[in-house]
Amino acid sequence: MDISSKQVVQDARDYTLFPWSVQGAVQPIHMTKAQGVWFWDGDGNKWIDFCAQIMNVNVGHQHPKVLEAIKKQVDELCYAGPTMVTTPKAELGKKLVEVSGLHKAFYTLSGTEANESAMKIARLVTGRNKIITRYRSYHGDTMGSMSASGDFRRWPVEPGIPGIVRVFDPYCYRCPFGAEEATCSRQCVSHIEEVIQMEGPQNIAAMLAEGVTGTNGLLVPPADYWPRVRALLDKYDILLIDDEVMAGFGRTGKWFATQNYGIKPDMITFAKGVSSSLMPLGGVIVNKRISDHLEDHMLWTGLTGAGHPVCCAAGIACMDVYEEEKVFENVEKQGAYLAARLEDLKAKHACVGDVRHIGLFSMVELVKDKATKEPLAPYGGTSPEMGKLAAYLRSKHLYTYSRFNLFFIAPPLVITEEELKYGLDIVDEALAVVDQALGA
Ligand SMILES: Cc1ncc(COP(=O)(O)O)c(C=O)c1O
Repeated sequence: MDISSKQVVQDARDYTLFPWSVQGAVQPIHMTKAQGVWFWDGDGNKWIDFCAQIMNVNVGHQHPKVLEAIKKQVDELCYAGPTMVTTPKAELGKKLVEVSGLHKAFYTLSGTEANESAMKIARLVTGRNKIITRYRSYHGDTMGSMSASGDFRRWPVEPGIPGIVRVFDPYCYRCPFGAEEATCSRQCVSHIEEVIQMEGPQNIAAMLAEGVTGTNGLLVPPADYWPRVRALLDKYDILLIDDEVMAGFGRTGKWFATQNYGIKPDMITFAKGVSSSLMPLGGVIVNKRISDHLEDHMLWTGLTGAGHPVCCAAGIACMDVYEEEKVFENVEKQGAYLAARLEDLKAKHACVGDVRHIGLFSMVELVKDKATKEPLAPYGGTSPEMGKLAAYLRSKHLYTYSRFNLFFIAPPLVITEEELKYGLDIVDEALAVVDQALGA
């Protein structure tokens, strides 16, 4: 039976629920095939994927080496329980330890589960209960990770888990402390110490934070931010859990974003890029102190599908692709081109308040007025102008992720300059549409 694309969309709307959506308002794309940085819809339109879906398909769609590894593993051993040993599980663990400089890896199937496990581990190892997180953060959709997130998506499920203490972010374009770059004394770090003292350092197990904040505004911290935070946490013996679910595996040009800052966290949580989501995979990598503790203490966490051999085989293949195809070198090269083009767009368009970028991880922040920095849409909301931008990008078959007054540019890491230019030219046109709507 040949079902038309329209019917497929209708069936999906009739029989399935869409995440993070008012169901009656969804306008889903029927994705039929994909390759590299491109995908096709049911009407045969070719789209450029300027967001690697949700910043996860790092090696590009349908990467042949990853597909081959998946198929081989399916034939060899498709499933083994979470306490079984398999070759892919062991091999990937060794690789994760090598690239992180930490000690042992624990597997989950997603980023949110990784953060749940990391928070549990922090509590088990320290015997303390509170977790510091930041307001502009997203750590996942399950109850604990959602509570830990600062993102507005936590509001409808609150009250969440107890023990979460939030601090402010290194958001230099709109500094929460009103600081100017030249005279900044890094209150974004020093106020954390005050919060620690008010909460009681002896009660705080860990700080959970994204190495470079993703969906909550692509906040690239100043060079001394992480070294200062690391020193502060060490002073009070508080663990640092670095959430690299989005920023990890080459997105910023390194295996993990905090490696750009020369610090080592106690735990790294990962998902997305580890397998480029060609199979679901996530986990936590822990340091020696934690690993030693767990030698003679119970690890109170585990999932039926964790360490799935096919997922781990996909992970190993992705790691090979990153190295063999020199993907991070491409991130550096294309990242420089992207950065230059973004700075040009900022200078050219009245609606562009700020652009933030590191590697192939970037975002455009739109304003009504550059001088007042009034956002083009409010936090948690939208606006007619943002609607115009989205409609233009969609009409040109450029796929990206947009929220409030921001939209992201984070394509697969294998993108070429020609492909990047193709997409950025469309972005340039879309920004002109917004300028015009603002009467600029
Ligand atoms: C920084 C960060 N942490 C955790 C998650 C949750 O990952 P998942 O959707 O795989 O559960 C995300 C998802 O976007 C993320 O960006």
